[in-house]
Amino acid sequence: MALPPGFLEELRARTPMAGLVGRRVRLSRSGRDWVGCCPFHTEKTPSFYVYADHFHCFGCGVHGDAVSFVMQSQGAGFMEAVEQLAAEAGLELPKLSPQAAEAERKRFDLYAVLEAAAASYQRRLFLPEGNPALGYLRKRGLTEDTIREFGLGWSGPGRGALAAELSGQGITAERLIEAGLMRQGEERPYDLFFNRIMFPIRDARGRIISFGGRTLEDAQPKYLNGPETPLFSKRRSLYGLDRARTARADIVVVEGYMDVLALHQAGFGGAVAPLGTALTEGQLEVLWRLSPIPVLCFDGDAAGSRAAARAALAALPLLRPERTLQLASLPAGEDPDTLIQRRGSDSFRQIISGARPLCAALFGLLQEGMPQDTPEQRAAFRAKLIQAAQSIPDRALAWEYQKELLDSFKAQRRNAALSERRPASQRVSYGFDQAAAERLRILTAIILGHPCLLRHVDHVFETIELPPKLSAIRQAILEWATTAEILESRDLLAHLSSAGLAAEVAEVLSAEPMRLPAYTQSGALPAEAEEGWRDICGHLQKDRLRQELDAIRAAYEAEPSVENLRRLEALSRELSGEGEDLEPAA
Ligand code: UTP
Ligand code: MN
Repeated sequence: MALPPGFLEELRARTPMAGLVGRRVRLSRSGRDWVGCCPFHTEKTPSFYVYADHFHCFGCGVHGDAVSFVMQSQGAGFMEAVEQLAAEAGLELPKLSPQAAEAERKRFDLYAVLEAAAASYQRRLFLPEGNPALGYLRKRGLTEDTIREFGLGWSGPGRGALAAELSGQGITAERLIEAGLMRQGEERPYDLFFNRIMFPIRDARGRIISFGGRTLEDAQPKYLNGPETPLFSKRRSLYGLDRARTARADIVVVEGYMDVLALHQAGFGGAVAPLGTALTEGQLEVLWRLSPIPVLCFDGDAAGSRAAARAALAALPLLRPERTLQLASLPAGEDPDTLIQRRGSDSFRQIISGARPLCAALFGLLQEGMPQDTPEQRAAFRAKLIQAAQSIPDRALAWEYQKELLDSFKAQRRNAALSERRPASQRVSYGFDQAAAERLRILTAIILGHPCLLRHVDHVFETIELPPKLSAIRQAILEWATTAEILESRDLLAHLSSAGLAAEVAEVLSAEPMRLPAYTQSGALPAEAEEGWRDICGHLQKDRLRQELDAIRAAYEAEPSVENLRRLEALSRELSGEGEDLEPAA
């Protein structure tokens, strides 16, 4: 022991815990002890208890003594923390020889403890006891290379087996507790992980800082993550980060361990995942160091879109013109792992290339759960859009967001108003003149080349008035889209052929009477196709307004009532793009 016997005890005795912690945390009395909000995780109700000689958070499990509080709260090393506390306590720190200091550092080297544990877990995976786990990982499609590269392992049955094995290397149960692998029980320390597949979690430099463990059965929880320790902060770590950092690939944020593994194995080396929590500010900052526009790709279920919405809102206050996010949406019921297993890596590549810019995705996310049937509800939604935009600190960027969000809002209101003015049963027929017919053909061609756009534009596509042949194609597309696992052009064309619509489709895609714009081709970027879609819709919109204007003008001439005059004025304002564009000052 490099520090003289009793030195740490003396140091602890001379350091009042509440005074030390109280510099960082607002504490209040709880009997003989103190309590406050935990500085190591976010909480509103205090569960961080400070006792005479140690602290413990009943929320996140972090605990320790004065030395580890300084280490964890300041990111200090062990000797650094000891020196600081000794100086404050007026204790003379015995001079250490360099060798002794090194030995002290090693003793406190939790990295080594975690490495030793990982080696033990890995060894067990390939022993007979690890057979079911290894079989499970293979069944999930992981190759032995992936299993070894990521250092996956098997925890063994617990009951102190790890401590027994590592004691030969001078690693005590106390160190295993500090490393987050054991907990102090009533009588003796017990293993945190047992009968679980072990996933080493590494920091950006590749050092193991904790583990996640997955049960093979239906035990709860499915995944268990190590507690907060001097090395591991769940909110700052990302699974797969060390590899993504050097991968020279798109940075893609997914939800789970297995997603990261499946993606790396399929050649998407930029995949990372948070550890079962919403994406934090700290994690976003880390991501932006790797890429100016990471892609968030959360599961295609309600929880996934809630996670996307939370991440998007968390990102807004941190956005700058040079760093933002994209959001990719997975087909319902899929996560990246299942998508790749079922449909191959190309389908995932398509999902990523169809990712939408944050602002465009934000509108849809904010709209979820916000009915817009009454003026009050619409005003509330509009306020929410403005509030989201205004949470961006960069003024110019905030303004652009506000403009785009409100434009989407207006476009949506206008669509709603049009379909109200003309219920489907009594839609005014304009006769399909040449230009309008061509526009509708282009819209259909866009969907044929990029059916993934259906997810953003389906409402328009469903309700727009089409001539009979296009309408038959639309019917078949919409039916296909409700069951197709993934919206791919090739699949769609094959489906339409087998539905007997080959001739109609060929007519849509032909170069007659005019060549189709390049953005309709399935080779064009989804973003280009979407841009084209908006452009064409804009033209159709104007065509319709113009025809309506003609009709109202005729009505006014026949009957010059105030009512008709008002309609006439409102419509010509709308057509010239004024009127609704007046926004209250931000
Ligand atoms: P999922 O349940 O979506 O994980 O949780 P998954 O990776 O798809 O799981 P399997 O293995 O394919 O069934 C996503 C992530 O949430 C965290 C884990 O980090 C997991 O990878 N999680 C999930 C927990 O921390 N605890 C849990 O009980 C479940
Ligand atoms: Mn999964």
